[in-house]
Amino acid sequence: MTIDFTDPEVIRDPYPALARLRERAAVSWHEPTGTWLAASHAAADAVLRDRRLGRFWVDREPAAVWEPFNLLHRNQMMENEPPAHTRLRALVAKAFARGHVERLRPAVDAEAARLVRAAGDEFDLLTAVAEPLAVTVIAELLGVPAPDRHRLRPWSAAIVRMYEVSRTPEAEAAALAACREFAGYLRDLAARRAADPRDDLISHLVAVRDGSDRLTADELVASAILLLNAGHEASVNALGGGVVALLRHPAQLDRLADDRSLVPTAAEEMIRYDPPLHMFVRTAAAPVTIAGVPIGAGERIAALLGAANRDPAVFAEPDVFDAARDPNPHLGFGAGLHFCLGAPLARIELRAGLSALLDHAPGMTLAAEPVNRPTFVLRACREVRLSRRA
Ligand code: HEM
Repeated sequence: MTIDFTDPEVIRDPYPALARLRERAAVSWHEPTGTWLAASHAAADAVLRDRRLGRFWVDREPAAVWEPFNLLHRNQMMENEPPAHTRLRALVAKAFARGHVERLRPAVDAEAARLVRAAGDEFDLLTAVAEPLAVTVIAELLGVPAPDRHRLRPWSAAIVRMYEVSRTPEAEAAALAACREFAGYLRDLAARRAADPRDDLISHLVAVRDGSDRLTADELVASAILLLNAGHEASVNALGGGVVALLRHPAQLDRLADDRSLVPTAAEEMIRYDPPLHMFVRTAAAPVTIAGVPIGAGERIAALLGAANRDPAVFAEPDVFDAARDPNPHLGFGAGLHFCLGAPLARIELRAGLSALLDHAPGMTLAAEPVNRPTFVLRACREVRLSRRA
């Protein structure tokens, strides 16, 4: 028996099925997707770190149909390995270095507090707080003008549906349209910043593009879109899922309310306990052995981050949310070369959202049972309705 990523029960709560998979074997073959699955912490970590396993982008066919999608993936760091990965990542890495991002903290804290205060007595955490917070932060950093920001989330939501195990033709058509429109928008914005540079990341990328031949026009567009999408999708669902987890562990919520010094470890535990991204696939460039299982050249193997994060070989009482867990070597941000570039920013956002809720919505409770979106790779609730009063 293997795991069915489309089973509504697995989507609602994947952890029992992931535990069975991990207990059976650290690495097992998954016939429906033609992929090896790495479910133990050690195996998933090895998949993410082994340089013989990589993300080698292959254009979707027919190319004439898929070009808008292919263009955005062929030209960005996440779908490439060195040397292209090194070059693309280095160009934006400085903007995401801890020290630089740290300067945003006061503004992120203030925005999170403003959003929670402005929400009603009963509100959807995702649309009232998590989405506007994550979109504002990444849009500010890149320099997307405020009146255009409402367009980012629908584009991103349409594109990420392509990363799911099961997809409909409608979802594919919507993703293609979103890629085309989003790229057109970014080309236009880059042209405006070329004519009138600002102190933002897009202007910086334009300067790099024009200063040498190191960044092509397509790479600029693809990099900006990667940052805008990666820069908010996961953050929104990390806060949503994390707060649900915390509300299901009321003693931990009380502990946190009494001792705010635990906010950083609690935020980290949110990413371990219920990570917003569950599966990343690599392809073997050469034969490799993971957890004793030989993976042939050209074969695919996926790291199951949610399974790794509940591995009892690494985490004591892995199914318990422990707001003070430390150390917490979870794989929610990945590992190795592709380790999340935005992790310092994501942590600031998550801590800000959590602190704002503790400050301005004390005694919050779930106003309705959250329902999950029907997706496995990107784990998300449709909404997280909170009531301020206990
Ligand atoms: C809680 C929120 C977040 C989570 C859980 C998360 C998780 C991840 C994971 C697991 C990866 C590795 C993918 C792989 O190995 O194939 C990744 C990569 C990446 N993330 Fe995040 N992320 C989050 C927020 C952000 C933010 C705020 C940004 C801001 C720009 C960001 C930008 C990126 C980029 C650019 C990559 C690709 C890095 C590379 O390929 O070298 N992420 N993220």
